[in-house]
Amino acid sequence: MVGDRERGRLKIGWVRAHMPILEGVRARFEKEGPFRGLTISAVLHVEAKTCALALALQAGGAKVHLAAGNPLTTDDDVVAAVREDGVITHAERGESMAAYQEGLERLLAAEPDVIIDDGADLVALVHARGQGRGRLRGATEETTTGVTRLRALERDGRLLFPAINVNDAAMKHLFDNRYGTGQSTVEGIVAATNLLLAGKVAVVAGYGWCGRGVASRLAGMGAEVVVTEVDPVRAIEARLDGYAVRPMREAAARADLIVTVTGRPGVVRAEHLAVLKDGCLLANAGHFDVEISKPDLARLAPARRIVRPNVEEYRFPDGRRAYLLAEGRLVNLAAAQGHPAEIMDLSFALQARSAEHLARHGAELAPKVWPVPPEIDLAIARAALAPFGVGLEEATPEQLKYANAWESGTE
Ligand code: ADE
Repeated sequence: MVGDRERGRLKIGWVRAHMPILEGVRARFEKEGPFRGLTISAVLHVEAKTCALALALQAGGAKVHLAAGNPLTTDDDVVAAVREDGVITHAERGESMAAYQEGLERLLAAEPDVIIDDGADLVALVHARGQGRGRLRGATEETTTGVTRLRALERDGRLLFPAINVNDAAMKHLFDNRYGTGQSTVEGIVAATNLLLAGKVAVVAGYGWCGRGVASRLAGMGAEVVVTEVDPVRAIEARLDGYAVRPMREAAARADLIVTVTGRPGVVRAEHLAVLKDGCLLANAGHFDVEISKPDLARLAPARRIVRPNVEEYRFPDGRRAYLLAEGRLVNLAAAQGHPAEIMDLSFALQARSAEHLARHGAELAPKVWPVPPEIDLAIARAALAPFGVGLEEATPEQLKYANAWESGTE
């Protein structure tokens, strides 16, 4: 659908006003032009905050090509707005998988110098082509899922270019994955259903940084949270954070709501669907729509209908109903508007500066998965203090001396 350009401009204006760190990076880019003559291909969820990033890269001299990170997460209004500003976009809300693939192809055809990826689909496509790295200086990656794929390429000795792991930067996962996913997932569930969370049994599958955020926000809304985990360390963490930790088969039988945040396929499958209570809500906040088995749902509960936007009812032959939100895709983006602007300010400032790092140094870096340079992470932490109203204590010369002595082993 063709979006409304003016509405798109207002949406982008709103988030830019709440993304001061990225705006600061943009102002510097405008002066220094680190991307002059370069092309950046970005596969991201094409919504207002992402457009703020695209415009910052463009201000640094880049020709920016943008494709959808997921068929259901595009905001057509902002697409219309940035297209007019010269960002080349291949994204339309609800696009088919074929159109999604076509978007990736176009991004490759643009011969990018830098890739910004979310889930590593574009990086995977470059590798599948087998045509080498071309003029690519490197890629940055936004998600846990994408980093797992990059590490697999690195382990097999197949990674063609340096890739910066933005996901694991402190200023990314501690905030975006936890508070961003936490708030926006609850927002998506509430927006889709208009139901009360207080008093509900909410099962959170996965206690990584995203799962922690979702569990804490659901608990904050009064839900009784039960966590499922395969990792014993995370399981005990969840327990000591105050949640019950049970196997999915047991948890599913009590659940009013199940949210998957594991990055793994088939987390909710036939054996769990068989024991669901009538009316259970099923939502996914993991990157791919594979965590809740849609094939199992369709097979076991063949009678289905859309009952509200983003809510599909599946009726089992025994009369029980399950409600799948947002087709099992990222509920926080498909049924809501993604992470809050202040959170994406941190993530996208990291992305912009990591892309700059690749533009300046990518040609000299080995083809490995690299962390975000610590000075960038720290600079963004310092920049975040002001908007969040945080004042820092300063170590006294005495304390510094003490710490240095410990580090040098003389204490
Ligand atoms: N907005 C843009 N990109 C996003 C992401 N990866 N997660 C949540 N909200 C977003």
